[in-house]
Amino acid sequence: MWLMRQAGRYLPEYRDLRAKSKSFVDFCLSPDLAVEATLQPIKRFDFDAAILFSDILMIPFGLGQDLRFEEGEGPKLGELHEKMTTEFVLEKLDPIFQTIQKVRAQLSPSKSLIGFAGGVWTVLCYMIASNSKDWRGVVLWAQDHREKFDALQNLVCDATIMYLDKQIESGVDVIQIFDSWCSVVPIEFQDKWVIEPTARIVSFIKTKYPDVKIIGFPKGFENLKKYATQTRVDGISVDYMQDIDLDLPVLLQGNLSPEVLVEGGEKMEECVHHILEKTRNKRFIFNLGHGILPHTPIAHVEQLIKLVKG
Ligand code: CP3
Repeated sequence: MWLMRQAGRYLPEYRDLRAKSKSFVDFCLSPDLAVEATLQPIKRFDFDAAILFSDILMIPFGLGQDLRFEEGEGPKLGELHEKMTTEFVLEKLDPIFQTIQKVRAQLSPSKSLIGFAGGVWTVLCYMIASNSKDWRGVVLWAQDHREKFDALQNLVCDATIMYLDKQIESGVDVIQIFDSWCSVVPIEFQDKWVIEPTARIVSFIKTKYPDVKIIGFPKGFENLKKYATQTRVDGISVDYMQDIDLDLPVLLQGNLSPEVLVEGGEKMEECVHHILEKTRNKRFIFNLGHGILPHTPIAHVEQLIKLVKG
């Protein structure tokens, strides 16, 4: 059991730590702060896995696109430009690899360390339209600028492979691919925009590191069987829009609604029992169906852990 966004603003100790750095990007690139943030939820709740503290948008930053996080507004990326290159990605993201090494040295060997990247489609959504957050506009833009879109897709896919390769070398045991905006991809572009880049990333990792497990989180992608068989991920993190009662040839993870965790109480108890019932005798990792919300009461997380782990 672990929770997506388990390190974050719902934790008072995270808010204190976060106050030490003016910018979120600097925070992610300060190994001592990022190590502490990664370990905070393990120290407090003893989850079974730690997830590297970083962000999916560190890839565009590594490629040379400006990145800022504004209070209450979310991420803002600068203009796309011709000079974006994979050449300096590993150098610019080097502090993240130092974070991984330090976390692995401090984390009990019984706990997994999860590394991650965004799905290529989702990262492109932010690179192209972080200011408007008009993801449907990105769908149109991609069709009107096919060559440009293809080139960007290859650039992000290449950078993601280099980045995950180095994360694994630095000590992560599992990889999760967060493709948060699959819901807007029209069916005729699913293969090209979601399946193919993900399959390329998975194939690279499986060839070089056969023991590293990969979890896909294609949020809003309806045909999960297709996603599982065609990308060859080992597990699927199921969002909270689908029932977890699924017959898939891979491990399942998920799928409690983050809103239900905010609500807590009997409602949450019912939902948790449903999930545990439907995944009984299956390989399953308890998790949320999307990231934990900043206004989630700590007591509800404690209640959840008791319900799941007894
Ligand atoms: O799960 C973890 O604890 C690991 C760290 C992690 C963060 N972001 C830290 C973060 C992970 C895995 C992510 C993934 C991420 N980032 C996704 C995919 C998952 C999803 O939520 O759909 C996306 C789309 C992003 C992009 C992003 N980063 C947004 C839209 C925001 C702003 C929204 C917000 O909550 O403010 C961020 C900022 C961010 N990333 C924060 C954290 C803890 C909050 C910023 C802060 O503390 O100042």
